[in-house]
Amino acid sequence: MKQIPYIAAQVFLLAPLLVGALFGKNDFLENHSEKRLRNVPHNLPSQTTILYLSENSISTLLQSDFSYLSKLNFLNISHNLITELDFSIFSFNSDLQYLDVSHNSLRSVSCDSLHHAGHLKHLDLSYNRFATLSSCREFSFLLDMKYLGLSALEIHHSDFEEIKELELETLFLGLEDLSVYEKRSLQVLNANKLHIAVPTSTQGHSLLLDAFNASRTLELSNIQCEAPCDYPTESLSQISKSSRIKTLIFHNITLSFADITIILQSVLCSCVQYLNIYRMTVVYELPYFKFDFSRSFLKELTIKHLINKVTLYHGIHPVRMFSEMVVENFTLSDSDLVYFYCPPETNRFHLLDVSENRITDDTFQNCTTLSHLEILHLQSNMLEDLSKVSAMTVAMRSLKYLDVSKNFLQYEKSKECFWSETLVILNVSSNELADSVFECLPANIQILDLQKNQITSIPKVLKSLTFLEELNVASNRLTDLPDCSNFGSLAILNVEMNSILSPSSDSSHKCRNVTKIDARNNPFLCNCDIREFISQVKASPERLIGWPKSYRCEYPEDMRRTLLNNFNLSELSCNTTILLVFVLTTTVVFVLCIYFLCIYFNLPWYVRMLWQWIRTKYRVRNMTTQDLQRDLLFHAFVSYSEHDSGWVKNSLLPKLQKEDGSIRICQHERNFVPGKGIVENIINSIEKSYKSIFVLSPNFVKSEWCHYELYFAHHRLFCESSNSLILILLEPIPPYLIPKRYHKLKALMARRTYLEWPKDISKHGLFWANLREAIQVNLPPCEQELDNLLHTSQTYEENYI
Ligand SMILES: *[C@@H]1O[C@H](CO)[C@@H](O)[C@H](O)[C@H]1NC(C)=O
Ligand SMILES: *[C@@H]1O[C@H](CO)[C@@H](O)[C@H](O)[C@H]1NC(C)=O
Ligand SMILES: *[C@@H]1O[C@H](CO)[C@@H](O)[C@H](O)[C@H]1NC(C)=O
Repeated sequence: MKQIPYIAAQVFLLAPLLVGALFGKNDFLENHSEKRLRNVPHNLPSQTTILYLSENSISTLLQSDFSYLSKLNFLNISHNLITELDFSIFSFNSDLQYLDVSHNSLRSVSCDSLHHAGHLKHLDLSYNRFATLSSCREFSFLLDMKYLGLSALEIHHSDFEEIKELELETLFLGLEDLSVYEKRSLQVLNANKLHIAVPTSTQGHSLLLDAFNASRTLELSNIQCEAPCDYPTESLSQISKSSRIKTLIFHNITLSFADITIILQSVLCSCVQYLNIYRMTVVYELPYFKFDFSRSFLKELTIKHLINKVTLYHGIHPVRMFSEMVVENFTLSDSDLVYFYCPPETNRFHLLDVSENRITDDTFQNCTTLSHLEILHLQSNMLEDLSKVSAMTVAMRSLKYLDVSKNFLQYEKSKECFWSETLVILNVSSNELADSVFECLPANIQILDLQKNQITSIPKVLKSLTFLEELNVASNRLTDLPDCSNFGSLAILNVEMNSILSPSSDSSHKCRNVTKIDARNNPFLCNCDIREFISQVKASPERLIGWPKSYRCEYPEDMRRTLLNNFNLSELSCNTTILLVFVLTTTVVFVLCIYFLCIYFNLPWYVRMLWQWIRTKYRVRNMTTQDLQRDLLFHAFVSYSEHDSGWVKNSLLPKLQKEDGSIRICQHERNFVPGKGIVENIINSIEKSYKSIFVLSPNFVKSEWCHYELYFAHHRLFCESSNSLILILLEPIPPYLIPKRYHKLKALMARRTYLEWPKDISKHGLFWANLREAIQVNLPPCEQELDNLLHTSQTYEENYI
């Protein structure tokens, strides 16, 4: 277990590569690492394809542990305590391709069982307790094997015999603790890439010399030389002599700068074309040094994660050294670099990658020597001013691709921008740019990445970007699609994760020539406005990336999570003209219906009657008994013209007077007291009656007496302010019939509601009921006087008319 920190880095590089390639759509991952397990857990889901059991305390593996996992493809059981491995336990796992049993306590492998592992592509047996590599003959059966990891304390001639036939991509040898190495043992190897965790003992010297000829790619990891060291510097300085290596990778090395210069200068004299250095720690200071590239084949130099513990320097700044590298592609990233010097003479750089440093805007200003540079990576630095970044590119006459993403870039409107005319791809994502950025863009840009900025809208009027093919404004704060008519060639538009509620029909119309639009994850507002957009999309759904699954309503609340594809609103609820027409039509129809109802069923008459009835009911209820203490004798006094007496006697009286005499009507023919004057009789009768009923008709108007009666009744009406007057309109009275002096009658007719005698027989019932209700009141029982009155029957007809 001691080697863990050493090997961690190696494993680091490999793991993402492998897992990345592995994980697909149908993979089912079970992660049980670091769970202090002593046994393989049972009852894992049988569809498991990827199983992590690393960093536990498992000591034995049984067939029953895995036999039910018929789909198992990847098993990582590294960093456990396994002592024996019999491959027959995997006889039911015919899909198993990746097996990592490194960092266990294996002393031997059961060779007879190896044919059960015939499908393995990746087998890591490194960092176990094998004394020798002595791999068994059966290894030659593993024809699919691409990666093999081994480690040993001793390496002898015959050790690689068994695997020399395998066409390995990578052979990893974890040899930190190597004590014996027989010369030329490595030479039989046949692997594209040889990866050696370098021995600490000087036994490694001859191993490294052999390694220089064993493959075309060599990775050396875990070289730790805090103090100046002879080995492995001595070994590496011999790389120039007859080595086959094209690609040399150092990983996790610690050296003094003196050792580094010796090693690098030797590499520059060798056939090495690609040199990658990951995690290099320079102990002591890092001074300036001029490397000699005159005999070098080096095309690409990559340095990632350079750590320099001492920053002291004298004379020329050591960083200058990097701008003098003569390679096509140079990467110096994640190394705390604050400045990159402009190369002193026209330089060969095609690609320069100084990402993940602390470089500022002042770098590369007025730099004319980078005229071959096509690709410049400056992401994750300290750039702040977009106009300065544009000025930095002006003299780069070949620059095509600039990546300044993940900086702190802003743009102030007043400043001018000067971009290299050759620039076609610009990545300014993850900055602090606002809408104004559209005034500072390269004229010939084809691909523009503006995602993760602060853009709220794309100006309608801007210098048109005729060549722009791909525009990415995802993760900004746009509220609508841009006006695509400014971008004549636009084919791909990404507006994912913005604040687009409903794309306006104008803009979605203007973007109709864009072949791919990504508008996923916007908070769509599902109302009338979005219908146009949806119908456009439905016409050609293949244009919209992620349609329909990734397009859902966010608002209104009750529509939340509804797919836009399923959202529907009727034409009626959205179109105001149609809505207006609809409402108007219904109103007209309704009014017409009411009108016809009135005409056919005389509705207003019923309503008036009903109203009258309710009012009377109310009045009677509010009347105190004291009001009735007056000596009333009759419920009503009827006044009518002699010409209408037929109707009064045959219709009115029989309907009102009940047989039990509970309603008493005063009639002049019957109840006038003989001997008294007519006027006196009239006044008497009116005063003794609760109500006065007047039967109005043209005849009534002609009768003088009738008018007297009305006059007195009306007078009483005002004196006692009670509504004792009831007018029945027996026949309509044309106004011209009423003589001028009868202004009282005129006024009454105009002001007071009167009951109209309905011609329709069906309405008579309601008429009588209404009238009876109007005169209904509790009167004291009959007295003698009344009796007399009631039984005196005398006619005053002659005088009366
Ligand atoms: C297996 O697990 C170990 C520890 O978790 C990890 O370092 C290693 O990269 C894994 N192996 C593979 C092949 O993924
Ligand atoms: C330099 O990098 C570019 C871009 O990654 C690549 O296309 C080119 O092949 C590289 N040059 C060499 C010599 O490897
Ligand atoms: C721009 O940079 C971001 C982050 O560095 C990256 O994810 C994206 O793929 C880049 N875009 C292009 C077009 O290369």
